[in-house]
Amino acid sequence: MSVSEALDMSVRVGGLVMRNPVGVASGAFGYGEEYESLVDIDALGALYTKAVTPEPRAGNPAPRLADTPAGMLNSIGLANPGLDSFVADKLPGLRARRCAVIVNVAGKTEGDYIRVVERLEAEDGIAGYEINVSCPNVAHGGLAFGTDPAQVERLVRAIRGAQGARSPRRPVIVKLTPNVADIASIAKAAEAGGADAVSCINTLVGMVIDVKARRTVLAMRTGGLSGPAVRPVGVACVYKASRAVSIPVIGLGGISDADDALQYLLAGAVAVQVGTALFARPETPSEILAGVRAFMEKEGVARVGDIRKMLA
Ligand SMILES: Cc1cc2nc3c(=O)[nH]c(=O)nc-3n(C[C@H](O)[C@H](O)[C@H](O)COP(=O)(O)O)c2cc1C
Repeated sequence: MSVSEALDMSVRVGGLVMRNPVGVASGAFGYGEEYESLVDIDALGALYTKAVTPEPRAGNPAPRLADTPAGMLNSIGLANPGLDSFVADKLPGLRARRCAVIVNVAGKTEGDYIRVVERLEAEDGIAGYEINVSCPNVAHGGLAFGTDPAQVERLVRAIRGAQGARSPRRPVIVKLTPNVADIASIAKAAEAGGADAVSCINTLVGMVIDVKARRTVLAMRTGGLSGPAVRPVGVACVYKASRAVSIPVIGLGGISDADDALQYLLAGAVAVQVGTALFARPETPSEILAGVRAFMEKEGVARVGDIRKMLA
């Protein structure tokens, strides 16, 4: 066996074992269909789906995208075909995947989240749930949940209660927003509610103005900032969250190459997700995995989970 084959790249989140730490982030990969010819989806550690809400959502009015230095601003507004169509049209394809399929769940009310999870509990082919309490682009729900520790704890407890008798139960990952003063307190609230992991970060609230037209570029005026510009914010959030809780932290925000991913792993993340970088370079996740493996070989690290012990 070569040294490289001996590396343990596996990641444990609750009862789930992902075969490697590199996933694709919610909203940047749809349900995988568009990327089929571009990415070896089965080789990913995890695929986080676009948000699923109880009813179909058309999303926000256009323009919904704006360029920014080293990033982009979006106000998609959780556009998705809704729960019934997800189960009927998207889940069959996802079920055939060999990577962990994590469904990103969103809603306007606590009841919305419960409805989605309860229904999906009856379906096979889902490895876990990522609870989006951090979308800045919706009028109700989203950020309103994710900035209040008491609400986060209550929501996670309710979602736990909605899970069936499946054993092992599917992990609940709570996706946190960086738009707060103290991300550690929100991570602790998720843990107290029974979350198996937290992921951070979702996008940062931003605005771009077209000076000539004296208008905001986005029809919704504000949007969520993503891409390399947000990476230092994400790395700091992972560092703070991972020191506040004993559940695993999954890192994302502006990851474009292996060094970016290693920053997150050194900061305390057990795994990473690639979002905006996929739009320009769909091969990014496989390059990151190869780069992380090369780092481990060079540094003599046998288990990817040990990287987070290496920060001086
Ligand atoms: C176009 C777009 C759509 C997104 N949709 C979702 C979503 O449905 N649910 C969610 O939790 N995050 C969503 N996100 C946030 C990303 O998953 C990620 O948290 C954020 O973009 C930071 O990572 P990145 O800089 O690698 O893109 C979306 C991001 C973008 C750019």
